[in-house]
Amino acid sequence: RVTAGFAAHRPPGVSPEQAAALPVAAGTAWDTLTNLDLPAGATLLVNGAGGGVGVPLVQLARRRGLAVVGTASPGKHALLAGFGAVPVAYGDGVADRIRAAAPGGVDGALDLVGGDALRAVAGLVPAAALYSIADKALVAQLGGRDVTRDRSTAVLDALAALVAAGELDPLVREVRPLAEAGAALALVEQGHVTGKVVLVL
Ligand SMILES: NC(=O)c1ccc[n+]([C@@H]2O[C@H](COP(=O)([O-])OP(=O)(O)OC[C@H]3O[C@@H](n4cnc5c(N)ncnc54)[C@H](OP(=O)(O)O)[C@@H]3O)[C@@H](O)[C@H]2O)c1
Repeated sequence: RVTAGFAAHRPPGVSPEQAAALPVAAGTAWDTLTNLDLPAGATLLVNGAGGGVGVPLVQLARRRGLAVVGTASPGKHALLAGFGAVPVAYGDGVADRIRAAAPGGVDGALDLVGGDALRAVAGLVPAAALYSIADKALVAQLGGRDVTRDRSTAVLDALAALVAAGELDPLVREVRPLAEAGAALALVEQGHVTGKVVLVL
């Protein structure tokens, strides 16, 4: 259900596929930064930075003057570096690699993976600035938070304007017809997509 209060006109310069990637993924990224309210120069950790939420979050955070460290598989490191993040491989030793990438410490984080991947980085971040949308139960247990969403037209307009201006790329790499919805969902469920997968009706 789409309500009038959470709908916006798609401006010229924003494709329907890009627009489809904005309300949930990019909107969550936008709201994370509003929730965290970090000052320019602070360091944000994005755990799982190469996916649907991570890609816009890295770009929006850099626009706000934050330093960004993003965990990702090695195949996504060049992409993240291109968006201005310092990429870090996840797995054994990830906390040490993040400390090396952010010698001044991490001021806030959004986890997009949950479970052991969240546990591995949780100690690096002040609990009040630790957010996860992938594992709401665990993040609460760790003293952190879920992201409070602002589902408003104003946020959609702001995101669409950035895309139209070429300042935000939701990175829609996979566009599939509805008939391939099963395969598209299976791809997403594998947990390693790059950017967004969009279905066309
Ligand atoms: N508001 C909400 O509550 C809300 C909104 C949107 C999404 N979500 C949830 O948030 C989560 C993330 O969404 P998304 O759309 O960004 O997912 P996604 O597109 O699947 O991206 C997740 C990323 O995590 C990386 N990853 C996988 N295992 C990892 C590990 N152990 N350590 C670090 N990175 C790892 C994956 O790629 P590589 O392994 O190749 O690096 C992938 O790029 C999902 O659980 C989704 O359901 C919640």
